[in-house]
Amino acid sequence: VIVEITAAATHTLRRAVLRNGDPDADVVFDGDDAEGSVHLGVVSDGWLVAVASWIAHDDGSVQLRGMATDPSMQGRGIGTELVTSGTDRFAGRAVWADARDSAIAFYEQLGWVVEGDGFVTPATGLPHHRIRWRGMPAP
Ligand SMILES: CC(C)(COP(=O)(O)OP(=O)(O)OC[C@H]1O[C@@H](n2cnc3c(N)ncnc32)[C@H](O)[C@@H]1OP(=O)(O)O)[C@@H](O)C(=O)NCCC(=O)NCCS
Repeated sequence: VIVEITAAATHTLRRAVLRNGDPDADVVFDGDDAEGSVHLGVVSDGWLVAVASWIAHDDGSVQLRGMATDPSMQGRGIGTELVTSGTDRFAGRAVWADARDSAIAFYEQLGWVVEGDGFVTPATGLPHHRIRWRGMPAP
């Protein structure tokens, strides 16, 4: 079941999955509370098992951030459901993300396209590429 959640409700999974459980990591992302930003979660047996945030930018584009599925629930199609619900919801907008290289194959099979050179994000120290949902240019 995909539900709309608060930004704060994403924090536990963001920390566990995207920041290696680091208790000191900052899991508040720019734009979390911007008007038009939406946070979606998947609830299974009463537990929040995946989260994804869709950050609204002033240029009208929407950035997917904080995509995380609980490790015990990965590989069951939950991430696919969550990403697809967002791209359906924001159809017609420019939808993009800065994706970890380790997850790019996941996005590519859903129709996302890699743009430009790779870079390392300070918060993770991991290589990333900008990707966009097909059809609309990333900003
Ligand atoms: C990437 C992630 C969000 C995918 O979520 P998920 O719930 O496991 O995704 P799904 O079960 O819908 O996977 C769909 C397909 O993508 C594949 N896949 C999942 N993660 C993948 C990855 N990192 N790289 C390549 N393929 C991947 C699955 O094997 C599956 O393939 P199949 O249909 O052939 O079986 C999840 O693995 C995750 O949270 N990873 C750690 C955090 C992360 O990297 N987040 C993305 C940051 S940009």
